[in-house]
Amino acid sequence: MTAPRFVNVGIVGGGLMGREIAAALRRWPALIDHPVVPRLTAIADINPLALDWFRSIDTVETFATDYRDLLADPNVDVVYIAVRHDLHEQLYTDTIRAGKHLLAEKPFGIDPSAADAILSAIDATPGSFVRVSSEMPFFPGAQAAFAHIRSGGIGRVIEATSSFLHSSDFDLDKPVNWKRQVRFNGRAGVMNDLGLHAWHVPLRLGWVPQRLYAVLQDLVPFRPGPDGTLVPCDTWENARILATVAQDGYEFPLTVDTKRIDPGQKNTWSLTVTGLDGAVSFSTAHPTTLRVLTRETQPALGPLAAEQRWQHVQVGSQSVWPTVTGGIFETGFSDTILQMWASFLAERDGALGGGFGCVTPEEAWSTHRIYAAALASHAGQSVVAPDFAPLAKADVATSATTTGTA
Ligand SMILES: NC(=O)c1ccc[n+]([C@@H]2O[C@H](COP(=O)([O-])OP(=O)(O)OC[C@H]3O[C@@H](n4cnc5c(N)ncnc54)[C@H](O)[C@@H]3O)[C@@H](O)[C@H]2O)c1
Repeated sequence: MTAPRFVNVGIVGGGLMGREIAAALRRWPALIDHPVVPRLTAIADINPLALDWFRSIDTVETFATDYRDLLADPNVDVVYIAVRHDLHEQLYTDTIRAGKHLLAEKPFGIDPSAADAILSAIDATPGSFVRVSSEMPFFPGAQAAFAHIRSGGIGRVIEATSSFLHSSDFDLDKPVNWKRQVRFNGRAGVMNDLGLHAWHVPLRLGWVPQRLYAVLQDLVPFRPGPDGTLVPCDTWENARILATVAQDGYEFPLTVDTKRIDPGQKNTWSLTVTGLDGAVSFSTAHPTTLRVLTRETQPALGPLAAEQRWQHVQVGSQSVWPTVTGGIFETGFSDTILQMWASFLAERDGALGGGFGCVTPEEAWSTHRIYAAALASHAGQSVVAPDFAPLAKADVATSATTTGTA
């Protein structure tokens, strides 16, 4: 047996996601024959109290309140950064220029010009390796749906819907936080927060929107601030984008929904695609079940032989990288985080093969162009073609091309 090759990981931002990733790395032995073993060696958070949670992890040697100290640590190979969106550009570009490999959090900069700057830093840094976080497509059912679509199992696509739905803001008395304020979260609002999860699979399938129409909703304009008085909650809560995708000489509609207030939902990612040969549907609300519709006739069904049938396929636990978890067992959010990291570090190591990879910088960058088009569409009540040409630092909403009125 060969000795494990260690990859030293530093985390910047020890909040919700920083802790989630630290916990996932502790479950690494669940993966079978992964080429590398990550070891969390450094944590940086501007808030010293946030560092305390990490003190029980015996591999962590560097505790920093300035992320630049973590970047200067030669004992860190890979950095994961989970901070407010307005900080992405500075921290990501500093990390890339420091020669560290990066798993960035979405939305990959607060706006298109920030995404431009991050992409430029990658282009200017030989040997950089950057991917962006989007774990929901690592549910086994999502992987099975992706594989079925990509294999042509549903034939020519009729239409597709991809969504990520919450109702975490259903409580109107919930205090405001940075994710509900434009200056920290960005003008794209809920799209910045949830959009990358919903665009990851469509973009990976090559479904780049040609033109789109968007309806955005600011349902809760004020929320209690730290002292209980109401302060602006100025982000879009819900966004529906209806896009057209050109494929093989024809177009189909792609609907992408991201919602913070969708009563009944908790943290639901779903994908439904219909085609001339069948359909496939998966929702994390029913994580063990993939729904597949085929056109094959089944004589044993007698008079129902030629009827349409939705089949429920139990997908079990296995996703991109094999694990010791029994194949029949159920999967959950923390499993998808582990799978995303397995994919990230395998790809970095050149060992992912044809496996499903994390969001690329270009894919994340293009979502900002889509959100800019959605903002312009909503503002002008018009159909807009996303502009995928690199932009200068300018008002992105006015840079998208208006092509008609819906
Ligand atoms: N992939 C997912 O499912 C998922 C879920 C939630 C959030 N996110 C993303 O993760 C990122 C962080 O979100 P969160 O929910 O963990 O936020 P959070 O507010 O829980 O944590 C952010 C942490 O960053 C620290 N921080 C602030 N400024 C800093 C600086 N200059 N240097 C170092 N640390 C600093 C804060 O003290 C805090 O501990 C965002 O980009 C968000 O969109 C991803």
